[in-house]
Amino acid sequence: MRILLGVSGGIAVYKAAELTRELQRRGAEVQVVMTAGAERFVTPLTFAGLSGRQVLTSLWEPAVDEAASGEAGQFDIEHIRVAQEVDAVVIAPATANTIAKLAHGLANDLLSTICLATTAPLLVAPAMNVNMWRHVATQENVATLRGRGVRVIEPGAGYLACGMVGEGRLAEVDQIADAAFWAVKEAGRKRDDLAGEVVLITAGGTQESIDPVRFLGNRSSGKMGVAVAQAAVARGAKVVLVTAAGADASLRCEQVVVGTAAEMQRAVMERLPEATVVVMAAAVADYRVKEVAVQKLKKRDSMVLELERNEDILRRVVEEKRQGTVVIGFAAETERILEEGRRKLREKGVDAVVANDVSRADSGFEVDRNAGTLLMRDAEVELPASSKREMAERILDYVGAMRAVPVGLGF
Ligand code: CTP
Repeated sequence: MRILLGVSGGIAVYKAAELTRELQRRGAEVQVVMTAGAERFVTPLTFAGLSGRQVLTSLWEPAVDEAASGEAGQFDIEHIRVAQEVDAVVIAPATANTIAKLAHGLANDLLSTICLATTAPLLVAPAMNVNMWRHVATQENVATLRGRGVRVIEPGAGYLACGMVGEGRLAEVDQIADAAFWAVKEAGRKRDDLAGEVVLITAGGTQESIDPVRFLGNRSSGKMGVAVAQAAVARGAKVVLVTAAGADASLRCEQVVVGTAAEMQRAVMERLPEATVVVMAAAVADYRVKEVAVQKLKKRDSMVLELERNEDILRRVVEEKRQGTVVIGFAAETERILEEGRRKLREKGVDAVVANDVSRADSGFEVDRNAGTLLMRDAEVELPASSKREMAERILDYVGAMRAVPVGLGF
């Protein structure tokens, strides 16, 4: 796999060095292209040393050892050659200026020219000051790029080099490498094994209102459900995501944003008739507050909240679904993971349960990685520690198999 790593000028350039290493560690050949701004922060020698290849920096000077300039008429135009050879272009860090140039189709340096000339997937990982990131101009440019199918790897929040705190930090190296590999796989495979399927997915932790400003919630971030949605979209399915974690701008599918379990239930039941696959990744609150206060509650010495049971959406789904619709539940557990998962598989009448241990710091709630076991009626498959996207793909591999087998036969 050949990845072109475009490095534009920002303090996060040093992380691009780590990214070069990570991409290579995963088996990619990395060709680095630096903008003039990037060269102000780090010399090309750093990246040449890491990648083992000459770093390309100029539109006007062909690379010494690689631009074929031999026979008459065979002179390769460097930026076109490079643009055609790579499997993905990843720009990290992508400055506000680089993003603006891409959005407007400028081609006044090597990197921006390659971006116009390539047909490979393009990914940008922005890094900049929080105000620059939030500026309407940048946000509009990012939206333009997304609309064209460019994958934007959202910056994280935290302490920024400028001394401010907020969004603008380059995404984690692992996350960028993951996105690059998935982009290449998607482009290469042209997978459409879920074409014709309608996949209904729930995500996030429901929020049960206490009063107009407070709620009871849980630690689910919605990332697993979003990963399943991304994977299902990439495999050609029509996807409806019912999410209690807010809409995800990177998703190219219908999203229904809900708050409480009751709202989630309404949205799911409304969409169920058209679904052929249901994946319940949401952490649905088992209880709601019996009497939600109309006005904000005032503090007192102690207080008792009376809770009442929410209906189990998954059970309702199993009761009311069309014949042949595949239903997958999640069991987020902290102990006796497999036993609990198997019990839920039996008791809820679903086709499969993804049992995962949410007590671990490196997988489960809130983080980008996960691990677990896919429990089906006739088989159990280990889902080793991986990114949530990778885990989502594995789960969907089996959905295909479950749908392919005539109802009632198992597999
Ligand atoms: N679920 C649901 N509706 C609920 C609660 C959970 O649809 N009211 C779904 C979740 O989306 C998930 C699965 O059921 O797919 C989780 O199983 P569940 O039995 O709810 O887990 P726990 O609440 O943790 O159950 P227990 O208290 O029995 O461990």
